[in-house]
Amino acid sequence: MPYDTVNNENIGQMVREFYAIVLKDDLLAPYFSKALGDDLDNGKWHGHLNTLNQFWVLMMTGKKGYGGDPFPPHAFLGQMYRETFERWLELFKETVNRLFAKEIAEKFYYKADVLAEQFIDNLGIDDEDDDD
Ligand code: HEM
Repeated sequence: MPYDTVNNENIGQMVREFYAIVLKDDLLAPYFSKALGDDLDNGKWHGHLNTLNQFWVLMMTGKKGYGGDPFPPHAFLGQMYRETFERWLELFKETVNRLFAKEIAEKFYYKADVLAEQFIDNLGIDDEDDDD
């Protein structure tokens, strides 16, 4: 049964499952393993998963916890393309759809999509086929 509410625990589960999938993806894994290594249980990943857990709690409930600025680290990950973000969004959508009820999954996706578009814009990525 998909979750029909969000809480710290199920957001934590979502974050871990999402990055486990990301680390197996040919397109995305290199960005993450370069920055954080390829073992979800190492110290850097532990920090990242915690940060992202708090980030999504803030996005979804407004509860404080994440006090950072999401964009800056993305400026130092090497060349990224619209396809890189589309792949990220695709895997994210699959993950939230699998775990959460439709309205919640849509809210997660909407927030991610807005952020992804901001990052694309900030990174100066040329977006000619901007249709999603
Ligand atoms: C191509 C897509 C993306 C890639 C390859 C990517 C990769 C990464 C990596 C490697 C880090 C860790 C950097 C470090 O700690 O050294 C990171 C941090 C983060 N990412 Fe992404 N990311 C992507 C898209 C997104 C999107 C769309 C969102 C938001 C919905 C997002 C939210 C975050 C946040 C909140 C952090 C933590 C920032 C902080 O340290 O405060 N990322 N990302």
